[in-house]
Amino acid sequence: MSSRGTASYVGVTGLPSIVSAAVALAEELDFPCSCRLEQGRLLTALAAGATGAIGETGTGCGVGLAWLVAGRRPGVRVVSVERDGERAARVARLFAEIPDVEVVSGDWTLIEGYGPFDLLVLDGGGNGKQGAAADPVRLLRPGGTVVVDDFTPLTGWPPMLGPAPDAARLGWLRHPALLATEVRLAPDLATVLGTRRP
Ligand SMILES: C[S@@+](CC[C@H](N)C(=O)[O-])C[C@H]1O[C@@H](n2cnc3c(N)ncnc32)[C@H](O)[C@@H]1O
Repeated sequence: MSSRGTASYVGVTGLPSIVSAAVALAEELDFPCSCRLEQGRLLTALAAGATGAIGETGTGCGVGLAWLVAGRRPGVRVVSVERDGERAARVARLFAEIPDVEVVSGDWTLIEGYGPFDLLVLDGGGNGKQGAAADPVRLLRPGGTVVVDDFTPLTGWPPMLGPAPDAARLGWLRHPALLATEVRLAPDLATVLGTRRP
């Protein structure tokens, strides 16, 4: 069994039904890049602590969104932005009957119109890996948490990306507005969590 992305769910039972439905959509659309099972379990645990709003950039086929929705308290709003129009439309349909969930089609920067958030998952735009990083001061409530997924676990300092220091990861770990750390979710997978200082 592959442990990567959408394939990490093959043969896994006992998932929340909305997570299974999102994984099925990812399989139907041949989308391999869903968040891994370990990351999904982290998201559902973090979502349970939110009291106002949760945001996500990069909806994909809605697997991470499903984990967030499965964990959130009733009445907590969840907004996810996806730039691929077909994926955004299919995920919007999948979640259409679930209250307080909105899937927005467009660039990740649209998330700025829905904050500030208790929890913000940057999984497609805004994570600083391939473009500008989101501003946690504008997007998070004080005490709110930003989540940036999909790093190779740290084995030394500074974190490296190929031959050079990993600027995106360092940007989050050293961000002056955050208390940030890296959490290892699997031998080959780490996530950075940063909580906005008061
Ligand atoms: C790693 S996948 C997201 C997986 C999803 N969050 C999950 O948990 O299953 C990244 C997604 O981000 C989207 N994306 C990439 N750049 C984006 C941008 N600038 N604005 C909005 N979405 C973007 C891609 O189209 C892709 O669907």
